[in-house]
Amino acid sequence: MILDNPSDLYKFILNEIFTARKIDPSSSKAQADYLISLQPIASNLWRSYQKHSINVDYENQQNQECYLLRYFVPYTYYLSSVILDSNIVENIKSGEKITLTCFGAGAGPELVSILRLIENSEVKPKSLEIGLVDYSDWSFSQKIIIKYLKELTLKFKFDFEVLIYVHDFSEPLKDDSEIINSISRSQLIVFQNSINEYTYRGSELINFQTILEKMPNTSKIIFIDQSENYRNREELLRQLELVSQYSEYKFKKLAENNYFALNLTSLKQSLPDLIDGNLYAKYKEEPFWSEGLVLRFSFKLSYIFFGK
Ligand SMILES: C[S@@+](CC[C@H](N)C(=O)[O-])C[C@H]1O[C@@H](n2cnc3c(N)ncnc32)[C@H](O)[C@@H]1O
Repeated sequence: MILDNPSDLYKFILNEIFTARKIDPSSSKAQADYLISLQPIASNLWRSYQKHSINVDYENQQNQECYLLRYFVPYTYYLSSVILDSNIVENIKSGEKITLTCFGAGAGPELVSILRLIENSEVKPKSLEIGLVDYSDWSFSQKIIIKYLKELTLKFKFDFEVLIYVHDFSEPLKDDSEIINSISRSQLIVFQNSINEYTYRGSELINFQTILEKMPNTSKIIFIDQSENYRNREELLRQLELVSQYSEYKFKKLAENNYFALNLTSLKQSLPDLIDGNLYAKYKEEPFWSEGLVLRFSFKLSYIFFGK
């Protein structure tokens, strides 16, 4: 299957980064030097994720480059694996068109994930619409990923549309906004690796109520995170449950798994040699280990599906 070859995706991302940086495509020394120069940025990004309160400047292009070359590819397996594990798959298989709204979507690994799921399932919707909502500008990365997917999906003859929305989740979602319109068409509303970064400054709980109110009756909200007990995530889900008891729009917990093991060790073979040893390493070795630059290929995930 086309999307089952992650080594192509890694190579495509690398090439696009080098092209944007005007690095000689015939010089592997220049390419390796650039990746080595990214190491301190990648270390800092990793350090940011070791804290409860995560604060990253995602609009910095080098942060996006490090994100794409480390986290993006494994994260394209989260949503599809969780949908399959939860037996909620029927929801997204039925119908002519699939619509998703993804909050805190960044570069959009959710999009690759859902396309892979469609490619590998027997039921073929005619098209996909995906709304990527974020308060940071991820256009550098989003353009790379969409370019890659457009070329591939020509081969498996599938039509998809990506709509980019800018919204800070601590601000109220406006009733007449395009995001609310997207929610009212969506079968799935996804929060992947993002609520642990939300700092509670106001309207988050109201926004969840609005989403529940506006989404179709059969739709589902899903939270996917690594099972690391991020305080923000735990607190938000606790408050959400409390608020739901008193609200007109109660939600039901449809599926939950706090220790879903996702083993992606076969990804190790897909990692281009240029990345391994210049920016990140596959195995624990100095100096990569001490700088937080060793790649992980197995994950423990927590997910929860809510519906009305
Ligand atoms: C770790 S990234 C996850 C991106 C993507 N979902 C993934 O799995 O790779 C977290 C994202 O949440 C976004 N984010 C954090 N706080 C936010 C807020 N208050 N409103 C909107 N987006 C926010 C960040 O800009 C970032 O893109």
